[in-house]
Amino acid sequence: KQPVSIVKLKNMKENKDPITMVTAYDYPTAALVEQAGVDTILVGDSLGNVVLGYDSTLPVTIDDMVYHTRAARRGAPNTFIVADMPFMTYHSTVAETLNDVRRLMQEGHANAVKMEGGAEITLMVDACVKAGVPVLGHIGLTPQSVHQLGGYRIQGKTKEDADRLLQDALALERAGAFAIVLELVTDQVAAYISERLSIPTIGIGAGAGCDGQVLVFHDIVRFSPDYREKRFVKTYADIGTTIREGIQSYVQDVKTRAFPAEVNSFRAEDNVVEHLYG
Ligand code: KIV
Ligand code: NA
Repeated sequence: KQPVSIVKLKNMKENKDPITMVTAYDYPTAALVEQAGVDTILVGDSLGNVVLGYDSTLPVTIDDMVYHTRAARRGAPNTFIVADMPFMTYHSTVAETLNDVRRLMQEGHANAVKMEGGAEITLMVDACVKAGVPVLGHIGLTPQSVHQLGGYRIQGKTKEDADRLLQDALALERAGAFAIVLELVTDQVAAYISERLSIPTIGIGAGAGCDGQVLVFHDIVRFSPDYREKRFVKTYADIGTTIREGIQSYVQDVKTRAFPAEVNSFRAEDNVVEHLYG
């Protein structure tokens, strides 16, 4: 299987074939996501929340992103991988921005990068595109700006806000973005922006009018010690509970000496070397 290209993604929009994107941050999750047949993987800075235990994406560093992108790539060698540029890494000079983009591509083996923001970041988007790097835009609720936005709120509720979102989307398209994530945008506004753009939109909490959908892996399968319901998520498995119960059973078996059993143990005449690791 070949990874999709940005040309294929645009064709998918034209053919009304919804684009699927799921986050992954390490080898086994990326491998399982690739095996499940997803179109694109996002190594999101949501890893700060869901795998590093921070309460926002702000503490995530470029070193974190490179490390996790490399691990995800080892699991998903045949999937188009987008890596997030972390907080404040694309706001000073073009040279500094391009160096971090280079690291995600060259050390992390990403196919593309994502940046949050609209018209104000088009200088950086344009510089990346000119350097040959596909850029995924991201507007609406942009978690790296949570302190400026005053919380995780729905975007596009007023006419002015909707107009600004459309202008930002068009500016990103002009700057060469290959697609745009719309996060927590009212469904009418997201559908309107999707119609007005020639590049695909990928929604999260932005309704069915987007050209694709993205969700966080840990939300889809409830991989969290304290999963909280979110209206824009649909969960398809509960591996948090499965893991907790599995570990509880293991602990109980050790305490009661039910594990290891005879089949898990070795005798001198056994020759199990080739099966030692399953
Ligand atoms: O970091 C992330 O997972 C994201 C998606 C929610 C779009 O940016
Ligand atoms: Na992100």
